[in-house]
Amino acid sequence: MTESAEERAAATVGVAQYRLGDAQLVRGEGIRSWDASGREYLDCVSGTFNLILGHHHPEVMAAVRAQTEELVFASSSFRTESTDRLMRDLVALAPPGLTRVNLRSSGGSTANEGAIRIAQHHTGRRDVIVPFRGHVGQTIAAAAYNGSSRMRAPFHMPPLGAVHVPDAYCFRCFYRQTPDSCGMLCVSRIEDFITYASSGSVACVLIEPISGMGGNIVPPPGYFPALRALCDEHGIVLIFDEIQTAFGRTGQMFAADLFGVVPHMMTVSKGLTGSGLPLAAILTEERMADWDRSLHGFTYGGHNLAAAAAVKTLEIVRRPGFLENVRRTGAILTERLGALRREHPMLGDVRGPGLMLGLELVRPDGGKAPELAHAFQRALHARGVLTRVSEHGLGNVIELRPPLILTPAEAHLIADRFGEALAVVAAEAVGRTTHAPRVGTARPDRAG
Ligand SMILES: Cc1ncc(COP(=O)(O)O)c(C=O)c1O
Repeated sequence: MTESAEERAAATVGVAQYRLGDAQLVRGEGIRSWDASGREYLDCVSGTFNLILGHHHPEVMAAVRAQTEELVFASSSFRTESTDRLMRDLVALAPPGLTRVNLRSSGGSTANEGAIRIAQHHTGRRDVIVPFRGHVGQTIAAAAYNGSSRMRAPFHMPPLGAVHVPDAYCFRCFYRQTPDSCGMLCVSRIEDFITYASSGSVACVLIEPISGMGGNIVPPPGYFPALRALCDEHGIVLIFDEIQTAFGRTGQMFAADLFGVVPHMMTVSKGLTGSGLPLAAILTEERMADWDRSLHGFTYGGHNLAAAAAVKTLEIVRRPGFLENVRRTGAILTERLGALRREHPMLGDVRGPGLMLGLELVRPDGGKAPELAHAFQRALHARGVLTRVSEHGLGNVIELRPPLILTPAEAHLIADRFGEALAVVAAEAVGRTTHAPRVGTARPDRAG
């Protein structure tokens, strides 16, 4: 039987990334979007964590429209007003010492590859240290560095000198320590990995300050100063992948500001253009500028429309009150979700600064509960709330990253929906598991 055009279209739709059946998005505004049937969604993942100013921010859209009247595209042989201005603004905003901008990638994966190349060129060395669960990207090279075998298993990856080291996942510490007495083994043991697991030629550490796809893993105080010291001692370039964390997501402009540590290099993308145009940047120290720029560049890097959107976005995130709003609405969500955690033992942890939150679902014995996280996510989707689960963390953490323009009323609305959805999942779990309502504050054993 031959397939009709409708059947073929339906089959294509089946690969939709949020698995929302045949929902076709037609409009977006602020934290909301609508599908063709008129159904409304609360976008609690900011598109793909990139719409920090929400859908269709009017000022960003106006800047893009104005740019379309002047110059849509320029070859990278030329400067343009938007790209010049953007590079100046990025340097002014970035942590001190990051004075050079490479604007020649249009996405995060290739920006990270560019950062690795710059580090390799600068040091003359090869290997890249990436923490477990780290996300570097989706190209073949970037995926070979990802800190989870899930992304590598289906493909034949060339050996690219990736050295994977345990991450600072205090909730499930690799070294079975507790934060108050751990001695920061997740940094000091990297020495052993350099000595025994690397090729002996380590160029850089590439790390997300908060592991996003890995499960919203927030390193403890002291981790980044120790990591920076270790890198300095070994002449290793410390690269912060701030692709999810930059431009206010954590309540500070950069996660580097939050942790009080300046890396040697930084990659940014996603939030850079506010409402969804593709662009990425690599920021480096001055000493790393001495390389042939033709070694890393893509046709659509530094795209003029995206650069115009980025200039406007940086203007908006610098306005008084912008970061304060992230901290305020983040605190509302943290407080309300914390109350849910006290009520429901299956919600093992609620963590993250600002509007970068993760909710870890646990089994009665404390083990990871991806099945509960997926049930929770389905219940949220049924209520029109869009979330994702931690892909590199094996899906046991719900990722909550609403646009940074969230209002307090919207934060409460989201918390209400999370409460309703969790109550449904908890009711379903009764009888199937031994999860009982939480009494007191004791946590279950967090094995595995
Ligand atoms: C932390 C991080 N790094 C890199 C990437 C890759 O970015 P892109 O999908 O734009 O290539 C992503 C994308 O999700 C990310 O979250």
